[in-house]
Amino acid sequence: MQIDSQHECPEFRNPVADRREAAPASPAHPRQIPWHPAELTIVVPTYRERENIAELVRRLDDSLQGIVWEVVFVDDDSPDGTSVVAKTIAAREGRVRCIRRVGRRGLSGACIEGILSSAAPVVAVMDADLQHDETILPHMYRAIRDGSDLVVASRYAGGGSASEGLSPIRKWGSEQATRLASRFIGDQVSDPMSGFFMIKRDVVEKHAVSLAGEGYKVLMDILWTAGKDLRISEVSYRFRERQAGESKLDTLVTFDYLGLLFSKLTGGVLPVRFLMFGAVGLSGIVVHLLALQYAMTILHMRFAWAQFFAVMVAMTWNFFVNNRLTYRDARLTGWRFFTGLLLFYLACSIGSIGNVGVASWIYSFHATAWVAGLTGALMGAVFNYAISSALIWKRK
Ligand code: GDD
Ligand code: MN
Repeated sequence: MQIDSQHECPEFRNPVADRREAAPASPAHPRQIPWHPAELTIVVPTYRERENIAELVRRLDDSLQGIVWEVVFVDDDSPDGTSVVAKTIAAREGRVRCIRRVGRRGLSGACIEGILSSAAPVVAVMDADLQHDETILPHMYRAIRDGSDLVVASRYAGGGSASEGLSPIRKWGSEQATRLASRFIGDQVSDPMSGFFMIKRDVVEKHAVSLAGEGYKVLMDILWTAGKDLRISEVSYRFRERQAGESKLDTLVTFDYLGLLFSKLTGGVLPVRFLMFGAVGLSGIVVHLLALQYAMTILHMRFAWAQFFAVMVAMTWNFFVNNRLTYRDARLTGWRFFTGLLLFYLACSIGSIGNVGVASWIYSFHATAWVAGLTGALMGAVFNYAISSALIWKRK
C-alpha cells in the first residue's frame, strides 16, 4: 500500500506518515524508511534471550539487504524482560514486533502464533540465540522464489554440521529422532528436527487447525500434516554455539517428541500432554505393584494396609514424575510443590470414586469385567488429567 498524502481522508491520520514527518534525521533516530509491506517475516520464539535480541536484529539487517523483512519475537513472558528489550527496539523500528504471551509456554505454539500474526507471503522460523546462521536466509528466500513451498535449513545435508552447537548426547538423540521420523514422514528432509526453516505462509494458514502445536518440533509437525503436498528444498548450514544465555531444551525433549509422534498417529485426537500423563500413569501401576509387594513381604503389612500404602506411593510417584516431565514448563517448587501434591491426592481420590462408579454402572449392563474396569480407569485418568492441567499445573 503506497501512502498518498494528497488523497488522505481528513479524519484518518496515518501514523506512519505522521512519524515520517516528525522524525528528525539524527543518528539517535534511525532513518525512516518509506513503508512497504513485508515480503518476509522472521518469527523468533524467545524465552530468556534478552542478551541476544539486539544482536540478532543487527545481523538480520546485515544479511537481508534487498528484501523487505520484519521480525516478530514471540516471547512467553520471560522473567529476564526479553519482551521489554524487544519492544524497546520495536518502538523505534517498524520492522520489529513482539508478541508477549502470558500464561502459556511452548516453542511450537509460539512459532505458530508468530506465523499466524504475519501478513507477509513468506515466513521463516529461527532461534534467537544466534545458533542459526542468518546469512543463509537470502538463499532460502531465493529457493522459495524459485518455487519451493518449504525450505529447511539442514545441519545434516552436505556442507552442514551440528557438532559445534550440540552436546554429544543431544547429537545422538537428534540422530535417533531423525531416523525414527523418517519412518513416518519419509526421508525427503535430512533434518526434520531443524528449528530453522522458511515456508509460504498460506501453507501454515491452511493447516493451522490440524497442527498439534505442542512440544518443540514445529517443523516435524508441519511435515507430518502437510509434507507430502509440498515442494521442499534444503540449504545446509553449520549449527553454531549459543551466544548468551542457556538452552531451554534438555534430554527430556525426547519424551515430548515421542508424545508428538503418538499424538500424530492418533490423528491428533489425543493431545501430547495427555499421552505423557497416561504414560506416567502406566508407570505408576508398576510402582504400585512393587510397593505392594514390598509392604507385604518386607514390612509384613496386612493386605488392606499394604494396598493403601501402595496407592500413596504410586500417587506420589505420579505427581513427582509429572512435575519433572509432563508439566516441567510449569514445574512446582517450594511450598507450591506440597500444596500441589495435596491437591493431586485429592483429585486422584475423587477420580477413583468416579472410576469405581462408572465401572460398576457399565458392569450392571452385563459388560465383561475388563471392559467395565478399563472404561472406569480411563474415565478416572481423564478426570485426573483435567484437574491436573486446569488446577494443579496451571501456567501462571
Ligand atoms: N516462546 C518460547 N517459549 N520460546 C522458547 C521456549 C518456550 O517455551 N523454549 C525455548 N524457546 C526459544 C529459545 O529462546 C530459543 O530462541 C529457541 O526457542 C530454541 O531454544 P534453545 O533452548 O536454544 O534450543 P536448542 O538450541 O537446544 O535447540 C534448537 O535448535 C535445534 C536445531 O535447530 C531448537 O530449535 C530445536 O527444536 C532444534 O532441533
Ligand atoms: Mn539454541
